[in-house]
Amino acid sequence: MSKDTDTAVQKCINPDCAAEFDCGRSLFKCPECGELLDVVYDWDKVEVPSKMSDFAARWATRSDRLDFSGVWRFRELLDFCDDKYKVTIGEGQTILQQNDDLAKQVDMQPGCLYLQYEGLNPSGSFKDNGMAAAFSHAKMVGAESSACASTGNTSASMAIYAHSCGLKCTVLIGSGRIAFGKLSQAMDFGAHTIQIRGDFDDCMRQVQDVCSKLGIYLVNSMNPFRLEGQKTIMLRIIEQLGWEVPDWIIVPGGNLGNSSAFGKMFSELKELGLIEQIPRMAIINATGADTLTDLFNNKKLRWNGGRVEQSIIDEFYADLTARNFSPHTCASAIEISRPVNLKKCLRALDVCNGVVLAVTDEEILDAKAQVGMYGLGCEPASAATIAGLKHLRADGIIGADERVACVLTGHALKDPNVTVNYHKEKQGQFSNPPVEAANDLEEIIRLIKS
Ligand code: F0G
Repeated sequence: MSKDTDTAVQKCINPDCAAEFDCGRSLFKCPECGELLDVVYDWDKVEVPSKMSDFAARWATRSDRLDFSGVWRFRELLDFCDDKYKVTIGEGQTILQQNDDLAKQVDMQPGCLYLQYEGLNPSGSFKDNGMAAAFSHAKMVGAESSACASTGNTSASMAIYAHSCGLKCTVLIGSGRIAFGKLSQAMDFGAHTIQIRGDFDDCMRQVQDVCSKLGIYLVNSMNPFRLEGQKTIMLRIIEQLGWEVPDWIIVPGGNLGNSSAFGKMFSELKELGLIEQIPRMAIINATGADTLTDLFNNKKLRWNGGRVEQSIIDEFYADLTARNFSPHTCASAIEISRPVNLKKCLRALDVCNGVVLAVTDEEILDAKAQVGMYGLGCEPASAATIAGLKHLRADGIIGADERVACVLTGHALKDPNVTVNYHKEKQGQFSNPPVEAANDLEEIIRLIKS
């Protein structure tokens, strides 16, 4: 296998192991101890800009495909492979929308609430940031076939990227657990789609065995290279705030890849002297899939310098198994009870002085309708951020004058059924059902005026 750069290694996150491996290897767990791996850089060997605003120069050279990419225009901060392997389909052309109307709704001052709209990515979710990086690594290691378990968005994104670089791809999804917009993309983009009678956690377990038995490249977020791509979401927020950091980042929590990646990015930026202050982070679960909330808030599980108390996790999962528990939420993207990035996420919470909470499906649906009404539409999991923000404001954890960036992870059209049902069946206070009318001009005019 080729080793094309000497700027990065893969390193086990367990401080008692800390084994290092070449980036030319395809590993998704530490072969020594089974823990997660990080991509770690030798910053002395990377030409990192001396200030964040230096990246702005790339705007002028955006006819270069790497400078156009919202991931690779920050490539010095994820320098694990040679340019010749870098894959891009134009991901990361996203916007950070200042939304004063929604700010008012959630009791924030004007100029304080921002929506980072990842629905604008080619496959309609934030996953494309991660896939650009993961498929670059896949090319670097010469992979021919890729696979993932998915609640939908990973599969859509994998399929579009696999096609773009000529890899085969297989998706494992839980039967009946995936929104139609996403399933339609996976099929349309040519993924070999296998529906398992089980939930996401079952699929996640199976896909790891499938990949190691068949030598297939795994693109779930336990792949450390994928998280390198997702770090850039934070860079684009900083970019759009005129190279300043916000006070808070709010992100939905599912498999906990995003939160892990964001925490890693901020600690690297701080280490490099590119930012002075690390924002705080709030991670929002759905109450029907709230493993992180329970472990962090009730069982007080902490990063603890990398020595996470494994027995607390083991007991928690043993109890889920004993109860035959399967998570349930209308936000199917985050319907996950055994998040693979749990430990990295605990590290991110430590780095960002983070908080965690869970919101109900009702709160998610109302918040989703408000995002739709006052700004950019989004899918249910993304709206958990706004639902969470309402709690954080009510509890005084976030001040009305703090600058908050909510990551809207997926496009509204990913899950049209949830939206249609909310409005047509008048499920919440913001339901806006269509009004029936006869095919008659007078009646239509009367209805418009009423
Ligand atoms: N929001 C959306 C729209 C998602 O699709 C996901 C995850 C998340 C949030 C949670 O992100 O895992 O980084 O905490 N979707 C995965 C999938 C699991 O298979 O598409 P996370």
